[in-house]
Amino acid sequence: MSSSSLAGLAALALSSLTESQLSFIQNLPKAELHAHLNGCIPISILRQLAESYHPPSPSAPDISEIQNGLETLDNFNLDSIHEFFGAFRTIYALISTREALATATRTVLSQFLEGHPPECTYLELRTTPKHTSTLPLHEYLDAVLSEVERYPPDRAALILSLDRRMPIADRSVISVGKIIGEAIRLKNEGRRVVGIDLCGDPLAGDMTLLEPYIANAKAAGLRITLHIAETTQNPPKETLQLLAYGPHRLGHATFLDEEAKEKVIKEGMAIEICLSSNLICKTVPRLSAHHISYYLERNHPIAICTDDTLPFRNSLTAEYALLLAPPPIGLGLTEAQVERIAKNSLEVAFN
Ligand code: IMP
Ligand code: ZN
Repeated sequence: MSSSSLAGLAALALSSLTESQLSFIQNLPKAELHAHLNGCIPISILRQLAESYHPPSPSAPDISEIQNGLETLDNFNLDSIHEFFGAFRTIYALISTREALATATRTVLSQFLEGHPPECTYLELRTTPKHTSTLPLHEYLDAVLSEVERYPPDRAALILSLDRRMPIADRSVISVGKIIGEAIRLKNEGRRVVGIDLCGDPLAGDMTLLEPYIANAKAAGLRITLHIAETTQNPPKETLQLLAYGPHRLGHATFLDEEAKEKVIKEGMAIEICLSSNLICKTVPRLSAHHISYYLERNHPIAICTDDTLPFRNSLTAEYALLLAPPPIGLGLTEAQVERIAKNSLEVAFN
């Protein structure tokens, strides 16, 4: 079993900081705006959940598959972003009861919000709603929201993710239409849903069909963030289509062409930057080539985020350490620049 939950460049950057730099980062008010619930459950909690796991259906993973899946997750070695999504089958099996999902959610919230000082001042957690025989959709949503709502609104909120592989209109299954409908219903009932995300396999699905759904969500007061241009294979036309929906923030936005960049800058769409995620998934070859520099040079709003703390073995503090640590470990930004980035993150939150 691996010895530490932190590894890679972010861990190195963190260990390179002086005490005063570390304390500076830890005490900066900041928001984590791009964290996927099921990608942020610590391996120790997954192992604990595995102890009481019973396959909920004949097609669900059996105990030995779960054990193998946990070993893979604990020794994650990604060769490309496309290998990433298979890793979630084990996690989804382990959170397939309300009790397990509540435990996982509480742990993730506390991982970000309960330290002294906490990893972030405000957490906007996101999750893709699920429906299984042991955990119907309404229960999934209520379980996660009930944990989020233990915190005051200025500390935690929830974004519902659409997965690019989902059907669009069929409301009898988990579809884009179904999730947007649920998000609007929950918001109108006063529950803590603040936005909609688009995530999942970056090459799946037909993104031309989303427009009326995104428009409905916006009309209901929900804010929009979209994973966009994550790979070189995402066509520029698709990227422009997604930008035309008028999202408030963008996830990754790694491969925007000039036309797209111009629109993003002009319309002030904030970028959720996930440094370790991009390096580990090899969509960015090295820190010095990261598109964060483009936005920093233009004083464009960005938020530093973890994405998935389990596979990427990072933390928000370690991601901020990458900003401050001198090259080649980090970007060597000044404390004033880092402070501005942290302030940005709070300004572009959906709460
Ligand atoms: P969940 O939505 O809480 O189940 O969190 C895990 C899910 O987040 C994965 O199944 C993916 O669909 C999604 N996800 C996590 N990281 C990324 C990413 O970098 N790009 C696209 N989707 C992602
Ligand atoms: Zn993501």
